[in-house]
Amino acid sequence: MKISFLGGGNMASALIGGMCGRGFEAADITVVELDASIRERLQTTYGVAVLAAPDAGVFGSDVLVLAVKPQQMKAALAPFVGVLRETLVISVAAGLRLVDIGRWLGNTGAACPRLVRCMPNTPALIGAGVTGMFAAPEVDTAEREIAERILAAVGSIVWVDDETRLDAVTGISGSGPAYVFHFIEALEAAGLAQGLDAASARRLAVGTVLGAARLAEASEDSPSALREKVTSKGGTTAAALAHLAATGWHDTLIGAVEAASARSRELGEQLGQD
Ligand SMILES: NC(=O)c1ccc[n+]([C@@H]2O[C@H](COP(=O)([O-])OP(=O)(O)OC[C@H]3O[C@@H](n4cnc5c(N)ncnc54)[C@H](OP(=O)(O)O)[C@@H]3O)[C@@H](O)[C@H]2O)c1
Repeated sequence: MKISFLGGGNMASALIGGMCGRGFEAADITVVELDASIRERLQTTYGVAVLAAPDAGVFGSDVLVLAVKPQQMKAALAPFVGVLRETLVISVAAGLRLVDIGRWLGNTGAACPRLVRCMPNTPALIGAGVTGMFAAPEVDTAEREIAERILAAVGSIVWVDDETRLDAVTGISGSGPAYVFHFIEALEAAGLAQGLDAASARRLAVGTVLGAARLAEASEDSPSALREKVTSKGGTTAAALAHLAATGWHDTLIGAVEAASARSRELGEQLGQD
């Protein structure tokens, strides 16, 4: 199976690194990348083929992963207009809708590329991402499995059955790492305010988030059951949670996700205007 990447930056590098450790052959991977230093790094590190511009081999790939910035996509797809046939096209570009990618590919007629859209998040860069995925109706089960194997190289995946749900995915997991970093910052600041030194406050804050997330993943209990288990009546956790409840923290977070999802919808419309 011949797999090409359009764009070889951070996300493509993470995917290629993950794929090479998981049964994909470097000899089957070609990366089209404008930046010569990135091309050299990809070739040296992973042994993949690199090109400065797409050639006939890329046009004939079984899979094409679109990994340029959303604003670069229309121009990057210009050489592909009307040339792809049965290719499985997987976009990891934030916000870009399949209808627009299809239009930019000159996607008409019976023999046209199959499209999958993904929303990965930044922990993918260390193989710990979670990716929301949507496949156009013409993508068959085998093709969905291929897309799944590629994105699973950088973490876990969640399929959605309606493309508009990717706006919710963006609000939760796409932007979510920033909420968690913000939470860590606040926990760290609280540690300093309580007299801890900076290094200890950071270790305690990061370790707590990491440990709680791993426990939530490993446990059969729901997050709310886990929370109740550490909340004794009249205890320290109960005092903290009562304060969070009084400040409307839960609803504030729901409002934040709503704002991110709404902005994702807006950006999708703007990006597809060309
Ligand atoms: N990084 C993340 O954590 C993350 C998370 C979710 C989604 N994504 C999505 O992943 C995509 C890639 O993001 P990234 O962070 O990997 O960006 P990036 O590091 O900037 O990589 C994109 C690369 O594509 C190159 N490029 C631009 N136009 C090209 C063309 N016509 N042909 C070949 N290569 C071209 C760019 O070169 P120049 O720099 O010279 O333009 C750059 O090296 C984006 O659409 C983004 O929305 C990324």
